[in-house]
Amino acid sequence: MTAAEPARRDIVAALDIGSTKVTCFIAQGEGAEGMRVLGIGTYRSTGLKHGVVVDMDATETAVGNAVDAAEQMAGTRIERVILGVSGSQIRSHRLKAEVSVAGHAIQAADVAGVIDSASAALRAAEDNAGTDSVPIHRIPVGFAVDGGAGVKDPTGMFGETLSVDVLLATAAPGPVRNLETAISRCHLGIESLVVSAYASGLSCLVDDERDLGVTVIDMGGGTTSVAVFLEGYVVHVGVLPIGGQHVTNDIARGLSTPVASAERLKTLYGHALHAPTADRELLDVPLIGEDEDGQVNQVPRSMLTQIIRPRLDETFELVRAHLESAGLFHAAGRRVVLTGGASQINGVRDVATEILQRQVRLGRPLGLRGMADAAAGPGFAACAGLLRYGMMSLPFDRGLERYRKSSASGEAGKPRAPRAASRLGRLGQWFKQNF
Ligand SMILES: Nc1ncnc2c1ncn2[C@@H]1O[C@H](COP(=O)(O)OP(=O)(O)OP(=O)(O)O)[C@@H](O)[C@H]1O
Ligand SMILES: [Mg+2]
Repeated sequence: MTAAEPARRDIVAALDIGSTKVTCFIAQGEGAEGMRVLGIGTYRSTGLKHGVVVDMDATETAVGNAVDAAEQMAGTRIERVILGVSGSQIRSHRLKAEVSVAGHAIQAADVAGVIDSASAALRAAEDNAGTDSVPIHRIPVGFAVDGGAGVKDPTGMFGETLSVDVLLATAAPGPVRNLETAISRCHLGIESLVVSAYASGLSCLVDDERDLGVTVIDMGGGTTSVAVFLEGYVVHVGVLPIGGQHVTNDIARGLSTPVASAERLKTLYGHALHAPTADRELLDVPLIGEDEDGQVNQVPRSMLTQIIRPRLDETFELVRAHLESAGLFHAAGRRVVLTGGASQINGVRDVATEILQRQVRLGRPLGLRGMADAAAGPGFAACAGLLRYGMMSLPFDRGLERYRKSSASGEAGKPRAPRAASRLGRLGQWFKQNF
């Protein structure tokens, strides 16, 4: 490509590698927190299962194609991306740590230090248990000075002790390294890793929801990810290995139809709620193994509901159990926002309301200028949120990074070297910057 390559530091590139599609957005900052999307690329993903790479070549191809398309549209090349992770090995840990500040005015270094000690405590616990993980987020969700809780920002305050309540989100090292390898094969580096459901929350929630308490449920193809926001902070993230592909596979098995036909039936005629007329409405269902003009079965539309509903029930029951085991089901507020491609199944909101006993709304990315309609749906919420993560400066969004400016920050939009040049040296750079 011979496009002009402005080395603009206000350009952010986001890459969401999902189980069904890889999406790349390139955007430019506009004013305080505004953004204009310059380029969009999306490509079918076949190399992942439950958000985890199982086929490196297929993942590399999908990443390369999605990034190329976004670069062509934006007229710029990118070198580093903010990467969404939604693999099922993501875990949340809440830790408290305390340091002495001996009566001096608290400085940014004190804050970074107390967060470091929370990370060190987790690492020690993992060493004892013989486990290992990669930190994805270290977000302070509340400070206390001399035991006085509710401090939003302790810098400049005086006291004897500073304590912090930190959300540490981690992932298993293998899947993160595989994602990183697929990306480095496309000569891209990672600016930040962000849990997809957290990103979806950044793009779809309004401030009041984040303050009063809300659970974001990102219903993807191979995963259902959860992020809980409370008092402005993300306080929990988690990923469950179940998604829209399970619904499609249930339909394919239940009706003996090819997966592609099951996918079509689901998106065109699927409904989670039973309607009396659906017994009389007959659908043509091609049979597996038959050619295009081969035998079709006629089944009442209500049969789709009978297949779809149990899987959605199971999904929301798993979400409920997950929140209960994290001790957050009752603390997490009265609202739920559904995002992700699979949130578009008709009737999903009613099922969520019934099982979670919450007010449920459907979310879609907010506040992005220049976004094509096709990319403004709930399936693109996570990718849009990654852009927002790159642009935002509010304390709850950037967490620790606010206190420890990485020298690499702001380079997401730097033009990339030619594809032929090996960038394997970048492998592990993210790890180095974060330890
Ligand atoms: N209009 C629609 N109606 C019902 N389901 C839909 C619709 N559009 C997409 N889906 C489903 O959404 C799922 C894909 O969602 P999404 O694009 O959010 O997943 P992903 O990000 O690729 O995967 P993951 O986040 O799980 O790794 C697929 O199972 C697809 O069938
Ligand atoms: Mg996704």
